[in-house]
Amino acid sequence: MSVLVTGGAGYIGSHTCVELLNAGYEVVVLDNLSNSSEKSLERVKQITGKEVTFYKGDILDRGILKKILETEKIESCIHFAGLKAVGESVAKPWEYYNNNVTGTLTLVDEMRKHGCKNIIFSSSATVYGDPAVIPITEECPKGTCTNPYGWSKSMLEQILSDMQKADNEWNVILLRYFNPIGAHKSGLIGENPNGIPNNLMPYITQVAVGKLKELGVFGNDYDTPDGTGVRDYIHVVDLAVGHVKALKKIKENAGLCIYNLGTGIGYSVLDIVKNFEEANGVKIPYVIKDRRPGDIATCYSDATKAKEELGWTAQYGIREMCADSWNWQKNNPNGYDDSSAH
Ligand code: NAD
Ligand code: UFG
Repeated sequence: MSVLVTGGAGYIGSHTCVELLNAGYEVVVLDNLSNSSEKSLERVKQITGKEVTFYKGDILDRGILKKILETEKIESCIHFAGLKAVGESVAKPWEYYNNNVTGTLTLVDEMRKHGCKNIIFSSSATVYGDPAVIPITEECPKGTCTNPYGWSKSMLEQILSDMQKADNEWNVILLRYFNPIGAHKSGLIGENPNGIPNNLMPYITQVAVGKLKELGVFGNDYDTPDGTGVRDYIHVVDLAVGHVKALKKIKENAGLCIYNLGTGIGYSVLDIVKNFEEANGVKIPYVIKDRRPGDIATCYSDATKAKEELGWTAQYGIREMCADSWNWQKNNPNGYDDSSAH
C-alpha cells in the first residue's frame, strides 16, 4: 500500500518523502510544481536510495486524481498541496480559496469515491489567530485570521471535521504546524522560496549568502522580552517525522484528531539572529522597521498532546535549525537552480 503525498515536491513535502521512504512506505507524489522543482524529488532519491512515483498535476484535476487512485494502491493521503504566501493571498483571495479550498474538496471527493478515507492535513498555528492562551494547546479556541490564506486553513479544518463527523469511516488528522525552518542534514533539500522571501529564516540565509543587504526586523515594541515577535520554530525534519507518526495513528482508526507540531519554545526575531550568527559564524546586519500588518506578538505551542498521543517530540534545537538552514543555502545559493550540489 502507498501513501499519496500531494505537494510532495515542496519544502515540507520533500522532507516528509525522505522520512516516509526511510520508514519503508511506498510514496506517490502529486504536485503541479507551481512552487517547487522536480529536482527536489531527485534529491530525495539521492538521500534515500529510493524512488517516489511522481505525477505532475493538479489537485483540482479530477482526471489525474482518478488515474492515481485507480492505478496506485493508495491507503492514505498526506495533503500538503496549497498556496501559502500570506501577502499574496490578500491580493489574490479567489486564487487562494480556489486552489486551497476547491482543490481540497476535489481531492477528498475523489478519495471517498475510491474508498480511501484517510487524510493528514497541513494546517497552521495561524488558525488560532491572536491566541487566547500561551502556550497554545489544541483546546485553545480558533481565532480570527488576518488573511485569506489563514482562512483557507481554518475553513478546511472545519470542512474535514464535518465530513468525519458525518462519516466515521474517515480518519482525519489536522496538524497545526508552528514555524518550520531548517533543512535535511545532507544539505540536498531545503526551502526554495520564489523571489524575495517573506519568512524570517529564508530572509536571514539570503542576507548571509550576500543576496540581500540586511534583515528588516518588523517591530521592536511588542510586549515580548526584547520587543520583537516571538515564534515557535521547528526543524522541518522533526515536522516530517511527525507525519510518519500521524500515519501510524491513522491506522489505529483515529477518527478526528488535532495536533500542534511545535517545540513548545518561543524565540524572538533577535534570538534567531543571534543563534544564526553563533551557529554559523556569519554576521547578519539588521535594521528595525515598522510592525508588519497582521503579525501577532507571541505564538508558541504546548506540544504535550502530540507527545502523549503520537509519541512525537521535536529532537532538534535552535542551533541545529540555524546550522542546517545555512548548510542548505550555502550549498545551493540559487536553490534548485544551482547545480553545485549535484
Ligand atoms: P511549498 O510551497 O514548498 O509546498 C507546497 C507544494 O504544493 C508545492 O510543491 C506546490 O507546487 C504544490 N501545489 C500548490 N498548489 C497545488 C495544486 N493545486 N496541485 C498540486 N500541487 C500544488 O510549501 P510548504 O512550506 O512545504 O507547505 C506545505 C503545506 O504546509 C502547505 O499546505 C502550507 O500551507 C502548510 N504550512 C506551511 C507552513 C510554513 O511555514 N512553511 C506553516 C504552516 C502550514
Ligand atoms: N520577521 C521579520 N523580518 C522578516 C520576516 C519576518 O522581522 O523579514 C518576523 C515577523 O515579524 C515575525 C517572525 O519574524 O515576528 C516570523 O515571521 P515569519 O514570516 O517567518 O512567520 P509567521 O509567524 O509570520 O508566519 C508563519 C507562516 C504562516 C503560518 C504562520 C503560523 O509564514 O504561513 O507561520 O504557522 F501561518
